[in-house]
Amino acid sequence: MIDQLKKHLAEVADFSSDNPKEIEAFRIKYLGKKGLLSQFFSEFKNIPTEEKKEFGQTINELKSKATEKVNLLKKAIEQDKPGKNIYNDLTRPSEPLELGARHPISIVKNQIIDIFSRIGFNVSEGPEIEDDWHNFTALNLPKHHPARDMQDTFFIQTNPDVLLRTHTSSVQVRYMENNKPPIRTISPGRVYRNEAISARSHCFFHQVEGLYIDKKVSFADLKQTLQFFTTELFGKSKIRLRPSYFPFTEPSAEVDVYWGLESETDYKMTKGTGWLEIMGCGMVDPNVLDNCGIDSETYTGFAFGMGIDRIALLLHQISDIRLLSENDVRFLEQFKSAL
Ligand code: PHE
Repeated sequence: MIDQLKKHLAEVADFSSDNPKEIEAFRIKYLGKKGLLSQFFSEFKNIPTEEKKEFGQTINELKSKATEKVNLLKKAIEQDKPGKNIYNDLTRPSEPLELGARHPISIVKNQIIDIFSRIGFNVSEGPEIEDDWHNFTALNLPKHHPARDMQDTFFIQTNPDVLLRTHTSSVQVRYMENNKPPIRTISPGRVYRNEAISARSHCFFHQVEGLYIDKKVSFADLKQTLQFFTTELFGKSKIRLRPSYFPFTEPSAEVDVYWGLESETDYKMTKGTGWLEIMGCGMVDPNVLDNCGIDSETYTGFAFGMGIDRIALLLHQISDIRLLSENDVRFLEQFKSAL
């Protein structure tokens, strides 16, 4: 039996051809399902124990030599064919370019930036690791103020002065400290809160906060600006402002947009009310202006803040906020946008 194998080894070594049919016949003879190799493999159990080792080694050698030979001969044919190589045919159309997709959060963020830039707002950014002053104290939230509990904060190690920002209002503080009114700026960015992760909330999400400070800025200006915004983003102009509380604004309000109750989805999204809460807002508290070096006798201002993730869920009918951070390409590929 070993001798037979050796004979085949020699045959494999000698074999050569540039005819694809012959090479295929050779492949089938040795490596095919009912080929010589599988026959030899099934003989293996009948080989006397003392010969098993040599038999096994030789049969493996035969297998690898035969495979190698087939690959080598096939490759030689490929290379010989003129024009087969793609670089030889310069008239060949190029590979189609696959267009990438933006992340739904970026799409919505860019839409929001675009809308506010049309009414004179610029974009400001700041650090995600913040100090107590910019995230809390300057915003009228001194130490031990009960409203600090509204935002479950991640502190960095044991230093309570270093934390992950819980809102991008911290960027507004930095902006006010470094710029003179008139100020019109929006601050997009990622924020962190120590909340349980579920389909509706995550321990990090994204916000866009806005700030407008000048002489004689009024609550009417705020409402008009928000109405412009909701009309542009959602195509809905009916909004309502419900009294609310934020330490940094006075008076404060929650903004609801009237979504309508035309379809079952509307009904589900708005829990049957037709209204959707989309952001918080208010007139900047004079204390905050003074804290940031802006004279509250001369200037007034309004501020607002919204979560981009929830708006992205709304606009794109996404059912689970966690999808936004799982990086599943099957999900991400569905968002193609010019913005
Ligand atoms: N900073 C607030 C938050 O994160 C939102 C807000 C901004 C509210 C500006 C009022 C004015 O919840």
